[in-house]
Amino acid sequence: MQDQLREAARQAQTAIAACQTNNDILNARAQFLGKKSLVNSLYSKLKDLPDAEKPAFGQLINDLRSELEKLLAQREKELKEQQRLQQDASKAQDLSLPGIMPGRGSLHPLTVVRREIEDIFMAMGFEIAEGPDIEDEFHNFDALNTPQDHPSRNLADTFYLENGLLLRTQTSTVQVRTMESFAPPIRIISPGRCYRNDKPDPSHSPVFHQVEALAVDKHLSMADLKDTLQNFARLMFGAGMKSRIRPHFFPFTEPSAEMDISCVSCGGHGCRICKNSGWLELGGAGMVDPAVLKTLGIDPEIWSGFALGMGIERIAMLKYNIPDMRILFENDVRALRQFSGESL
Ligand code: DAH
Repeated sequence: MQDQLREAARQAQTAIAACQTNNDILNARAQFLGKKSLVNSLYSKLKDLPDAEKPAFGQLINDLRSELEKLLAQREKELKEQQRLQQDASKAQDLSLPGIMPGRGSLHPLTVVRREIEDIFMAMGFEIAEGPDIEDEFHNFDALNTPQDHPSRNLADTFYLENGLLLRTQTSTVQVRTMESFAPPIRIISPGRCYRNDKPDPSHSPVFHQVEALAVDKHLSMADLKDTLQNFARLMFGAGMKSRIRPHFFPFTEPSAEMDISCVSCGGHGCRICKNSGWLELGGAGMVDPAVLKTLGIDPEIWSGFALGMGIERIAMLKYNIPDMRILFENDVRALRQFSGESL
């Protein structure tokens, strides 16, 4: 009897461990604990035992029953867990699911606008020239006919370095470097970073960008400057754009002018943005002062030139209707995304 019991236990343990499906578990339960099971048949054999042995053997059968119940429940749990893991694994490899799109960058609006300006001037025959951000006083001021007592040379306006150099306050420095190195005819634009000791506000930033244009040739006049400005205004802001120049003063041009374009918001009728004038200021310009040409070894009796300079931030702000320059430098991607006209 004891042997039968032990044999029943061994068989059941092996069979339960071998169960692979829920159905196997059901079958094993029926086989080992059901009505016709071996364990059940052992109960009927109790009556053949001497009375004294009955309780102990009965207890053994009961123990075996509950042991098998426990094993079945445990195996059932194991199988469920296995199934769950298998399902998860097959989910991870579900090739029919949509992919995860990587975030895509876009060009900064200042880059978009700078490239557009470059394209427009290149189409008019200008080349792109570059110069250093760290300059000396000669290239930033002296060669540009700027006297020692000019306010822009003030410590309060210009960032001077300890070694006597400075952070350029304008890209007009590249005019000087180009005329130093190349003989006319010259047609260049020089986009780049400039620095001034300004507090950031909606229209100022201590770091900003300018683009300078310079043409030196025989017989250049204000008409060429006006034509270049008008072409630029139309290509940058749209066919209906008008432009004009007004008298002004810069140390390195004579005569000097300020350039305006018709208001991008109202088309010239007058609105809040153009303070009802119909015009928006674009930058400075003029005929290169003969003194500048002479300093750089170019004979003003033979050659004449025009130059202009404008802020790239200002153009971006007009083009994209950006109310505050600081938006361009805070680099909040939610803001930048709205103005990026071109992806990488
Ligand atoms: N450099 C001037 C500025 O930063 C802008 C400028 C004015 C550039 C007249 C020019 C020019 O080339 O002819 O305010």
